[in-house]
Amino acid sequence: MNILLVGGGGREHSIAKSLSKSPLTKKLVVAPGNPGIETIAECYPIAADDIAGQCKLARDIKADFVFIGPEIPLVLGLKDELLKLGISAFGPSKNAAQLEGSKTFSRNFCDRHNIPQPQFEYCTDIETAKKQIEILSGYCVVKADGLAAGKGVVVCDTVDQAIIAATDMLEKNKFGNAGRSILVEERINGIEASVFVVSDGNNAVLIGTAQDHKRAYDNDQGPNTGGMGAISPAPALDQKLNKKIFNDIITPTINGMKLEGYPYEGILYAGVMITDKGPKVIEFNCRFGDPETQVILPRLDTDLVSIVQKTIKKNLKDMTIDFIPQSAITVVIASKGYPGEFKKGVLLPSLKNFKDKTEISVFHSGTSKDKNGNLVSNGGRVLSITSIGANTKDCRQKAYKVVEAINWEKGFYRKDIGKL
Ligand code: AMP
Ligand code: GLY
Repeated sequence: MNILLVGGGGREHSIAKSLSKSPLTKKLVVAPGNPGIETIAECYPIAADDIAGQCKLARDIKADFVFIGPEIPLVLGLKDELLKLGISAFGPSKNAAQLEGSKTFSRNFCDRHNIPQPQFEYCTDIETAKKQIEILSGYCVVKADGLAAGKGVVVCDTVDQAIIAATDMLEKNKFGNAGRSILVEERINGIEASVFVVSDGNNAVLIGTAQDHKRAYDNDQGPNTGGMGAISPAPALDQKLNKKIFNDIITPTINGMKLEGYPYEGILYAGVMITDKGPKVIEFNCRFGDPETQVILPRLDTDLVSIVQKTIKKNLKDMTIDFIPQSAITVVIASKGYPGEFKKGVLLPSLKNFKDKTEISVFHSGTSKDKNGNLVSNGGRVLSITSIGANTKDCRQKAYKVVEAINWEKGFYRKDIGKL
């Protein structure tokens, strides 16, 4: 099979690795890819959000299907454009991707379908926001409505903090159009977990659970990031809770989207908080997580290409997805300064001695090559090191041994990933 994978981060490196292992894969092309992905697939420098460019590439390589990694091309409607050309794609349509693309759509959708979630108020002006912030005594979460690369969420303790966050978004244009409207949410407490399912529009099957580490520094200190590390399976979840999450959240979401005329096909990522009143939706994403994919896919014991094929053929009803019994963790090495200002193009240590082994993978998240062919940083999150082991302690030992050996002085990483 000829496959085009769209994207070029650590998530896509992990997806590329799984796709390339499949006996069903004849040719794997990735756009734009990165230097890590280049070692296992053919890469073309076409940006993930270049919809016309991706469509042309899919046609040129006679893709049997296109696997769309990141949210932006999904929200822009890449799947819809591919379907017009008669090319199959794995991922939700533009309308279905609103579950991630608009936090307001997602909250109103959950309301319509009685899916448990925090209370929220939609605001387009600072006065309405202030009123809601006062009602919640500042113990709230202020969120930009649109996509902001995981940074448009401010978790607040005080009225002043929340008003500053709301003013930054509504009046100071901090997130551009994404922050023109905001949500002020009730701040809920509990343990967080991410649940990933694959859906063909009618049925959903669990493809993995994970716990992300979103704050920049150890002990959950510092600003929110896209994710500094992850562990799978999510320690907070067991079969009973997974079943409850399916009953209360996943099934009503898949049924609701179908009912509203936007059948949801592809990966649905539910970020949930396990509260004392049961699991509640923190957010939905319309794709695999980054860095969660780097721990979900290495644990998969079912061929990823066959999962995609069954999804596209709307044939997931009797599919079972198997996992290896071991755990996985991934540790992200980020550029100093991330998630604030950071430099790109900074030389990275040679990774020649860190060839992938069964239990260790070095995924490239934000790397490129300079004009002399040296590996340099090209993003906030630069590498993510995954290990598989009997338990998280074993995983931590293996992953941190590699992270320390890479020893990139211009970067930083959390030392407490998977520390329970
Ligand atoms: P999001 O990008 O919506 O996942 O939010 C980023 C992080 O903010 C989440 O992982 C939670 O830790 C936190 N968060 C978001 N919404 C809420 C909420 N309503 N109550 C408590 N924490 C939240
Ligand atoms: N790690 C969070 C996300 O992928 O949205």
